[in-house]
Amino acid sequence: MAEERRITLINYGKIDPESISDYISAGGYKAAEKALSCKPFDIIEEMSKSSLRGRGGAGFSTGLKKKFTSEACTLCEQKYLVCNADEGEPGTFKDRIIMENDPHRLIEGMIIAAYAIGASKAYIYIRGEYYKSIKRLGKAIHDARQEGFLGSNIFGSSFSTDIEIRLGAGSYLCGEELTMLESLEGKRGYPRIKPPFPAGKGLHGFPTLINNVETLATVPVVIEKGADWYTGMGTEDSPGTKIFTISGDIKKPGFYELELGLTLRELIYDFAGGMKEGVDLKAVLIGGAAGTFVDETVLDTPMGFDTLKEKGAVLGSGAVMVLGHNKSIPGMTQSILEFFEHESCGKCVPCRVGMTQLVRLISSVNENGTGHKNILDEMLTEAEFMAKTSLCPLGQSPVLPLKSLKRYFAGHF
Ligand SMILES: Cc1cc2nc3c(=O)[nH]c(=O)nc-3n(C[C@H](O)[C@H](O)[C@H](O)COP(=O)(O)O)c2cc1C
Ligand code: SF4
Repeated sequence: MAEERRITLINYGKIDPESISDYISAGGYKAAEKALSCKPFDIIEEMSKSSLRGRGGAGFSTGLKKKFTSEACTLCEQKYLVCNADEGEPGTFKDRIIMENDPHRLIEGMIIAAYAIGASKAYIYIRGEYYKSIKRLGKAIHDARQEGFLGSNIFGSSFSTDIEIRLGAGSYLCGEELTMLESLEGKRGYPRIKPPFPAGKGLHGFPTLINNVETLATVPVVIEKGADWYTGMGTEDSPGTKIFTISGDIKKPGFYELELGLTLRELIYDFAGGMKEGVDLKAVLIGGAAGTFVDETVLDTPMGFDTLKEKGAVLGSGAVMVLGHNKSIPGMTQSILEFFEHESCGKCVPCRVGMTQLVRLISSVNENGTGHKNILDEMLTEAEFMAKTSLCPLGQSPVLPLKSLKRYFAGHF
């Protein structure tokens, strides 16, 4: 049986999250000190070698993102780092676990990332309901400043940076990176059109690196132990560990940090205690609302960004919802589509009208107990049209779950 491997969560339950001296005693801030004694280019190289992929959902190379931001506009007087702590994807609570239990790890990762790209200012854009995380991060930033880890001339170097916390106000769309930048600039949470990409033209028009909490909190261990050590875990295309948050009809819901490459079967039966008494597995939703449904034929596929793609699935944020035989697939689909309809900002017609249309179609299935023969195809055609014509990735989201439903659960409609 595989074992849990806590790398990002190494301090979980072992230190007082409100004590900087506890964090330092556990080896904290050594990686930042080491990083600041190297050239920024070397940090980017090490991160690229580690092949760490973004943990916010899309799985983009962390090293490459840093490279693009660092190389963009070398004469710009300002660059920014933004930590995405909005954590709005249903079923996902891994970032909260990190921020509540080891806030200094995130701050240390941010110092290293800011140094690598030359950002003198960093923000944490955090979900406003995360009261405990906000309080603990606020104290951790204050204590780090007192110790000289934030502010001017960090570790006696010529590098200076600082972190500010900004609160989100409950919009799922503001977790999308470009919408987040609008919100950070004090504007309404409407998305921007890409390109330009934030690495070239981000916050206030300056090069900006945007990374998820889990991604940034993993940076210190990569710098401390090296890329070769890191790539010794997980799989070739998806090295390292991932924090999975598992919920639904299982005996032990919660969070588990595991090496990538483990199977859904191992996650559900070895770690999450298996299905609840008397309940058989019907479906697993991986990656939250913007994720994909799979059935038991995918239970033995090693979980990684590319391996799951081959099965028409996504790893996404690492949220895993297990649905028992008593759960209705069209019912679950309606919850997801209503969520998207509610979160659509309404700026563009294909998404605003398309979401309403999708909810109307799925409601007809649930109200009548059955749809017409081609109802799933009709929804999929609508979602594909939306994916092609919507302004931002939210309008492209319904196509993912619907495609997976067509592949694995067409008979349920
Ligand atoms: C509608 C929408 C909501 C998103 N919400 C979040 C979120 O809450 N947290 C997050 O880290 N990424 C979220 N993302 C992904 C971000 O746009 C971005 O890809 C991510 O912050 C990049 O960080 P990473 O490279 O470390 O994964 C969202 C994307 C979309 C389209
Ligand atoms: S796709 Fe949806 S969420 Fe995005 S801009 Fe258009 S209406 Fe707003």
